[in-house]
This record gives sequence, C-alpha cells and structure tokens, in this order.
Amino acid sequence: MKNIANKNIVNIKPYVGGKPISEVKREFGLKSVIKLASNENPYGPSPKVLKAIEAAARDINRYPDGSCYELRQLIAKRLKVSADQLVFGCGSDEIIVLALRAFVNEGDEVIMAKPSFLVYSIGSTMVGAKLIEVPLQGLRYDLVAMKKAVTSRTKIVFIGNPDNPSGQYPTKSEVEVFLKDLPGNVLVFFDEAYFEFVDAKDYVDTLALLKSRRNIIVTRTFSKLFGLAGLRIGYGIADPQVADFMNRAREPFNVTSIAQAAAIAALKDEAYYKKILKVLEREREVVCAGLELLGLVYSKGATNFIQVRMPRASREVALDLMKKGIIVRDMSAWGLQDYIRVTIGTPAENKRFLKVLKESL
Ligand SMILES: Cc1ncc(COP(=O)(O)O)c(C=O)c1O
Repeated sequence: MKNIANKNIVNIKPYVGGKPISEVKREFGLKSVIKLASNENPYGPSPKVLKAIEAAARDINRYPDGSCYELRQLIAKRLKVSADQLVFGCGSDEIIVLALRAFVNEGDEVIMAKPSFLVYSIGSTMVGAKLIEVPLQGLRYDLVAMKKAVTSRTKIVFIGNPDNPSGQYPTKSEVEVFLKDLPGNVLVFFDEAYFEFVDAKDYVDTLALLKSRRNIIVTRTFSKLFGLAGLRIGYGIADPQVADFMNRAREPFNVTSIAQAAAIAALKDEAYYKKILKVLEREREVVCAGLELLGLVYSKGATNFIQVRMPRASREVALDLMKKGIIVRDMSAWGLQDYIRVTIGTPAENKRFLKVLKESL
C-alpha cells in the first residue's frame, strides 16, 4: 500500500518507545520488572489525584470540556498569563504536532538539534518540512550554529529546555543572544517537559520572554513530575494569536475529562509533588555516585534522567538489563550506539539498577 500512503508518512521512521513493564514480564517470564526508561515519576500520582480520577470516571458517558475551562483558568492564574494564551493537548507531544500543523507548509524549514527529542523530527516529516539538524557540541545546544541555520523559509526552531536525551539546557544568556535580531516570523519552541526538575540560576524564564515577543511557544506536561503519563495531558503557552492557530489545528475533544480532573487535582496538591521532587533530587546524586564508583562517564543534566556511556554496545547492555528485569533506554535510536539513558527511580529501584548494571558490565 506504499503507493497510496501519504508520501510524508512513508518517510517517517516509527517511534520506538520504552517497552512497557507488562511486555517485558511476558517476554522474559519475569515476575518483577522496573522501568527506568521513559522519565516517569516512579511514585505515581498523589492520593488526592486518584480520588479526582475516580470522581471524574463517573461522568465518562459525557464528552469532555473541549476548552478545558477549569484547568485553563487555574493555569492562567498560576502562570500569570491570559486564558487565551493556552493550548491543551494529548500530552505535550500533541502541542509539538499542533505547532507544526498550524504553521508549517510543505517545504518550509524546521531547525532542531541532533540528537534531540524524536517527536520534533517525526512531526516535521509528517507535515513535509525540510528538517535542518544542527549537531550538539559536547551534548549542549550550539545556538550560534542554529541561528546561522535560519533562512527565510524557517518556521520553527525547537529547543528542548532541558532537552532529551542530553538533559542539558541552554543558558539564559545563550538564549538571549539567540533571540536577539531573530526574525519575528520564526517561532521558537521551548519544550519544557522537564521544567519542574530544573533548579538553576542561569535557566531562562521563557514566560518572561513571551511578554515582549510574540514568536515564542512554551510547553509543559503532566507526564513527568506529576505522574500522569498514562492519561496524556500537556499544554502550550503562546501569544493569543499563535495559540488560536494551534487550537484550530486540534481535534475538538483531544483531552479527556479524567485527564483534566487529574491535572487540576495535581496542581492543587503541591506538597505531595514537592516531596517527590526532593527524593528524586537526592536519588539523582545517589545514582551519579554509583555510576562514578563503576568508573562510568555520564551526563547528569538538570532532569530526572541521566545519559550514561557504556563500555560496550548499549543495545547489548540494555538487553542484558532487561533480561534481569530492568528497562532502561538504549540510545542507538538516537545514533548514540554506546549510551543508555536511565530515569531516576525510587531508592530501591536505583539500588537494584546499580547492582544489576555492575553485574552486567
Ligand atoms: C523533551 C520531551 N518533550 C516532550 C515529551 C512528551 O511528553 P508528553 O507528551 O507525555 O507530555 C517528552 C517525553 O518523553 C520529552 O522527553
């Protein structure tokens, strides 16, 4: 059927995600499997969120509120933006796709780093964009080279802030230099899926940038710290007109009622998530110390995951770990043949990971 498939879709290399726990249990006949492959919150949502989900489940015979009214008001108030600056999506992945759908015509150029988050390239290929990939320099964005790559056909520049898989972010001053004199019709897309994990003085405040520039899109998600990856909900913040175009490109009921209720409850339960953030920050240090003891080179980054260089093919190491009940991400799909990426789990999970990794090496 290749001859009748959309030519842009034919060019997409299918996304390969972290394997689900159930699949690994089945495949390898294992009873206990831990997943440290998709940068999720290992503790899950708070009890209050679970209650909100139960309550919302009673009304699932009704379509959801397509405008996400209550959640929209809550986030607008928290972020001090106007309600019409927000776009909600089935995960922040969908906001990436909506921006591409709303602004990119066939043959327009999209700039991203290489390697970076795979959805930028999948989405760009889907809309027939010409993708310009600018290599990272020592795992960090080369914003000078990315700016040089801008032409009159450039529509969107994707900046993972911080990025996946590197875990790094461009500094405030690097971003400021990048934005200076950048044509106003080039959209700069700051993907902040890991925003809550960053604790750094030189991290740029993109919402402040949005006050004086119309060409900025910022995304955030409930999939990482808030533990709602399975419900699929994220959002974008942009100039009202930019948000309006993205809203036109989305399906009317793209965010479920349960996801909306859970997101509202999660935002209101700050104490629970603060506690988890603390534990994960502490555990990040524990994992790094463990990796050092093993003599491994790693990139700590500002997120809840670490990229680690393996002394042999990452594909082999990841498979070996999987057979022993630990799912990590083999980075070969990003072209990094000797790296794995590991998410920070609970103290017990991290301990088990370090022990099994030591045995495998
Ligand atoms: C950099 C980055 N952006 C966006 C996402 C998408 O997250 P979601 O669609 O679950 O909000 C991820 C998920 O792994 C990510 O790593």
